[in-house]
Amino acid sequence: MLTPTEKIWRNGRFIPWDEARIHVLSHVISYGTSIFEGIRCYDTASGPAIFRLREHVRRLLDSAKIYRIEVGYTAEELAEAMLELVRVNRMRACYLRPIILRGFGEMGVYGSRNPVEVFLACWEWGQYLGEEAISRGVDVCVSSWNRMAPNTLPALAKSGANYMNSQLIKMEAVINGYVEGIALDEAGYVSEGSGENIFLVRDGRLLTPPLGASVLPGITRMTVCELAQDLAIPVAETLIPREMLYIAEEVFFTGTAAEITPIRSIDRITIGAGRRGPVTERLQKEFFAITSGAKPDRRGWLTAVHAPEPAAVGS
Ligand SMILES: Cc1ncc(COP(=O)(O)O)c(C=O)c1O
Repeated sequence: MLTPTEKIWRNGRFIPWDEARIHVLSHVISYGTSIFEGIRCYDTASGPAIFRLREHVRRLLDSAKIYRIEVGYTAEELAEAMLELVRVNRMRACYLRPIILRGFGEMGVYGSRNPVEVFLACWEWGQYLGEEAISRGVDVCVSSWNRMAPNTLPALAKSGANYMNSQLIKMEAVINGYVEGIALDEAGYVSEGSGENIFLVRDGRLLTPPLGASVLPGITRMTVCELAQDLAIPVAETLIPREMLYIAEEVFFTGTAAEITPIRSIDRITIGAGRRGPVTERLQKEFFAITSGAKPDRRGWLTAVHAPEPAAVGS
């Protein structure tokens, strides 16, 4: 059970956690009309900082545009509200969850007259796939469920409805004794995990499915591609046949919740040496060095929650 924080931001105002409620006949309940984000705030050496805030807000507004939802707040307003949310709740490291939904009003699929509600919440959240996952890796399966086919539910939008598909993938995996499932796309190529993008290492090269393979355009996915560039690791977005998973030297998940999580087996076939591989480890080290503040934030990925102290007069 997650531990409540004090306040949630609702349509421009901070309200107590327990008052952030919606009516059971809200449009979102029957028809799934929600879009959301998952964002991490890291406790860095120089104070709490939100990771890739701009990019998350952009994806949130992109999701809204795809679903013709008028948000009523600019990217700058939403970003500022999220920084304020962390300050108001006096958090250091936390997970932020902006949710935009269609609320109570009319009944029927066409929801344009139902009010749009914007909520921003945060709470403390640890390792998504288990404490040991980051160092030892996880055992996963290929799901019997495919990701949404193109032109059905848009994969580029992070909508609540897409997570019904994710739930099928995750439930099947967990019930069969795996930590997570990897879904294929409609054509049978590798797509992504229920809540993570996926990368393979083959001949020292990083491979990840392209956006056309029904994947969410992950912010951590983009981050890993940029880190790979910095570390001179070649990376390609390419269609990946299922069997390539089994013969890869390394495979790992990426995601805000999962961060960079090694995969040590798929369908009980050992991947590489059956533990975190060297390329995964290099990328993880670099990622955690930047998000902890141990290494400089050279690409400007972190937004400080507290404004930097002004320089002392006369210094
Ligand atoms: C289906 C899916 N794919 C990929 C990701 C990874 O995206 P990100 O790195 O932006 O968290 C997530 C998590 O949000 C997800 O739910």
